[in-house]
Amino acid sequence: MTNPMGITQSDLGKRVKELRADFPILASKVHGKDLVYLDNAATSQKPVQVIDSIKTYYESTNANVHRGSHYLAAKATEEFEGSREFFRDFLYANSIKEINFTKGTTDGINLVANGFGWEILKPGDQIMVSTMDHHSNIVPWQIAAQRSGAEVIEIPVNELGELNIDWLRENISDKVKMISTVYISNSLGTINPVEEIISLARSVGAAIMIDGAQTAPHQQVDVHALDCDFFALSGHKMFGPTGIGILYGKEEWMEKLPPYQGGGEMIQDVSFSGTTYNKLPYKFEAGTPNIAGAIALEAAGRYIQSVGYDFIQAQESALLEYGTQQLSQIEGLKIVGQAKEKASVISFLVEGIHNYDLATLLDKQGIAVRDGHHCCQPLMDRFGIEGTCRASFAFYNTLEEIDALKAGIEKAVAILS
Ligand code: ALA
Repeated sequence: MTNPMGITQSDLGKRVKELRADFPILASKVHGKDLVYLDNAATSQKPVQVIDSIKTYYESTNANVHRGSHYLAAKATEEFEGSREFFRDFLYANSIKEINFTKGTTDGINLVANGFGWEILKPGDQIMVSTMDHHSNIVPWQIAAQRSGAEVIEIPVNELGELNIDWLRENISDKVKMISTVYISNSLGTINPVEEIISLARSVGAAIMIDGAQTAPHQQVDVHALDCDFFALSGHKMFGPTGIGILYGKEEWMEKLPPYQGGGEMIQDVSFSGTTYNKLPYKFEAGTPNIAGAIALEAAGRYIQSVGYDFIQAQESALLEYGTQQLSQIEGLKIVGQAKEKASVISFLVEGIHNYDLATLLDKQGIAVRDGHHCCQPLMDRFGIEGTCRASFAFYNTLEEIDALKAGIEKAVAILS
């Protein structure tokens, strides 16, 4: 079998085997069984390159950044700012002023929504988010709407789990001041037509924010080519540590938005008669940042580059195709989310069996999937379900692990039926 990128299945298999050796946890046993880790949309595993970066930082670099004149302070600052420069390049941003370190995607969206709620939105304005958005891209906008008198409008999703772009085309107007939506759905794997959504936003002068939490682990992100205003991502989903992420924000927007939090680092001068704020990007980075995390995130970005997005996409499309084919053979199993453009996520239900029971019995066999609503309750409501079981693949997963998943589901169904 040759995949669309022209890499043979056997070459993919060999490379995956080599790469798996970089991820110590993948060799673990769970409940006495080989771990089959299929919960990558929740968080990915970490290669030794990232783990070593954290260890090396604390062993040989640890100091606070931008605050001291001693050797370690300079070294830590250089490595921390080096990571920012790396991500300017990685994301194709124009300037480091557009690259903010955050705690993750949720933090990045909250930063933007908070600023919009305080200073940009007015009563009668509209914010559009889609039914398939994660709670972290719904609730911050609801809070911004409450604060400003604006209204949150839901962009519907069709039976296949695709965003209804025709509806958007018909309903968008100059009342819309922000469209904030997900690039790749965490719960269904749908890849949204973000270029088209961005151009619709532009046609009415609305700002556009992309929730890119599930994007960077799977495909190249080019914020310059996309021409979005904001793009948020999480380090831990792209083989980096938890508690670190990046918010890309166009310089003119970041100048306009008010600070999100006050404290050290984000100020120029403080006095009781008035405080002035630091220049970008520091205006949005109050307090001591996650220095080790930012540096290890660069290690994760470099690791992705060494693996290559061509390889990642070839392997993941093979996993998605094989997984869909194999799981579809299971009697009573229904795949929820069958978009034409999909990333390597398979959400499924088995008739008559609760997703929690199924996930629990899979776990007993060493197979990690996520169950529940995946922080997407409006989407589950759209399909009239409480939740699903979700297998989400990374490039280090194998076809054999999909065989194990299929056998695991069949075994669980035999016990539960
Ligand atoms: N958003 C994460 C997930 O999809 C936690 O599981």
